[in-house]
Amino acid sequence: MIKNISVIGSGTMGNGIAHTFAQFGYSVNLIDINQEALDKALQTITKNLDRQIGKGTLTEEQKVETLKHIITSTSVEAGVKHADLVVEAATENLDLKLKIFKDLDSFAPADAILASNTSSISITQIAAVTNRGDKIIGMHFMNPVPVMKLVEVIRGYQTSDETTKTIMSLSESLHKTPVEVNDYPGFVANRILMPMINEAIYTLYEGVAGVYEIDTVMKLGMAHPMGPLQLADFIGLDVCLAILKVLHDGFGNPKYAPCPLLVNMVAAGKKGAKTGEGFYTYTSGSKDLIVANKFKKS
Ligand SMILES: NC(=O)c1ccc[n+]([C@@H]2O[C@H](COP(=O)([O-])OP(=O)(O)OC[C@H]3O[C@@H](n4cnc5c(N)ncnc54)[C@H](O)[C@@H]3O)[C@@H](O)[C@H]2O)c1
Repeated sequence: MIKNISVIGSGTMGNGIAHTFAQFGYSVNLIDINQEALDKALQTITKNLDRQIGKGTLTEEQKVETLKHIITSTSVEAGVKHADLVVEAATENLDLKLKIFKDLDSFAPADAILASNTSSISITQIAAVTNRGDKIIGMHFMNPVPVMKLVEVIRGYQTSDETTKTIMSLSESLHKTPVEVNDYPGFVANRILMPMINEAIYTLYEGVAGVYEIDTVMKLGMAHPMGPLQLADFIGLDVCLAILKVLHDGFGNPKYAPCPLLVNMVAAGKKGAKTGEGFYTYTSGSKDLIVANKFKKS
């Protein structure tokens, strides 16, 4: 039975994952190499719990209980010693994840399941650096974790039925809807989403239409809650580029080649909302449209 959960990485996703498990009564050990990131994560969790109280979906007592269920640590070795499950949500970098999983394999109990929240790195490749391939699985939460209902559960080549079943029912215990998919580049979510975003960027780059027009067509015409260019800004243009490269390399199909405009924007440091500028500019919480012509292919 899963009771103790260690979460590796306390950034955007890690704090949301810790928040969600703690809210549903699991004991969480949130681990990051960076103490500042841990302090910031606890502040964010508190703020998001207050927001839930404001919406009437959580009580003050539940907030206190949730926070009681979370402890933090800067040591992976100490932090995973009693884990039934580890969910890794560290920076998206292959070498880093392989190193983390090697460590987890040595430090976590032999029967613990080790899951990754990776958006694009192969679960099978991660499993290969451990001695418990049957217990390695993808648990791909969506941002913001406490709000979004989906968990994309990714079965690596060696993942067992038992591990998959445990993670599917654990996800349901968080009031989420898990969906089981196999481990191929981009899984399902990003294999479909990223080509759409890339095509929107090509449409802009070729001068077919401007930022406002492209996003409005998809919002009002397809009932998407936000346009693909704005969504790319929120995901991070560097993250979109990295995932497109995984699709391009993994399938060897030119249809996944990242648009040169995306490559240029990332090289120029315009990575979307987090840097204050992408297809829109972001100043003190509000978003403004950049003149569309700026993006045209010359
Ligand atoms: N941001 C999203 O919308 C999103 C959505 C789904 C999945 N993901 C995936 O979730 C993972 C985390 O993404 P994020 O956006 O939260 O990143 P982030 O940059 O916000 O946070 C990453 C955290 O990992 C920490 N870290 C780095 N190396 C570490 C180590 N060795 N041990 C412990 N902590 C370490 C960093 O200090 C940082 O706090 C990535 O694999 C990403 O692909 C992200």
